[in-house]
Amino acid sequence: MVSDINWSSVYENGGDFRVLTPSELTDIFQHLPKGSLARSALDIGCGTGQLTRDLWFRGCSVKGVDPALKAIEIAQDASSRISDDSLVYVASDISGVTSTERYDLIFCKLVFAFIEDKENFLDTLKSHMYPHSSFIMISPVLGSKISKTKPFICVDHDLALEQLKKKFDVVYTY
Ligand SMILES: C[S@@+](CC[C@H](N)C(=O)[O-])C[C@H]1O[C@@H](n2cnc3c(N)ncnc32)[C@H](O)[C@@H]1O
Repeated sequence: MVSDINWSSVYENGGDFRVLTPSELTDIFQHLPKGSLARSALDIGCGTGQLTRDLWFRGCSVKGVDPALKAIEIAQDASSRISDDSLVYVASDISGVTSTERYDLIFCKLVFAFIEDKENFLDTLKSHMYPHSSFIMISPVLGSKISKTKPFICVDHDLALEQLKKKFDVVYTY
């Protein structure tokens, strides 16, 4: 199920989403394959850029990409004190990432449910990864408490796992 949400108006009305706590982010980094690099990151569907900034503060060179212009404006405002080329936001979907760009990490937090053509999306993301890169997808799942009231923000766990396993050699769920 893919919903037709006007994301810019969500952000214009002050909407935002749950931030990963520092310990949750540390946990994610600890689950990365041993010795893997985390120098560059892409935050796809970055919203107001909370995770994008957290990744930057953890030392990544990071690009946040989101088609909702209002979200990108808020993200840029929130980062206005950081004048550093290693933190960049782009108002676009994945097509705003040029074909030669590669990332050690690609984050997709609370976005996958809204992607219509998931297979094509994963193929495109893969084309921006190195062999050692990791893709981190965070999503509520059908059957969880929140799916009772907001099923449209959730993915089917088994289906998503199947979709990921088709594209990636190793898939872990947490
Ligand atoms: C629930 S919000 C999550 C935002 C952010 N990741 C967070 O966790 O705060 C979903 C976001 O996905 C973005 N989005 C929707 N379709 C997208 C697409 N095809 N490619 C990239 N982002 C998309 C929306 O603009 C929105 O900002």
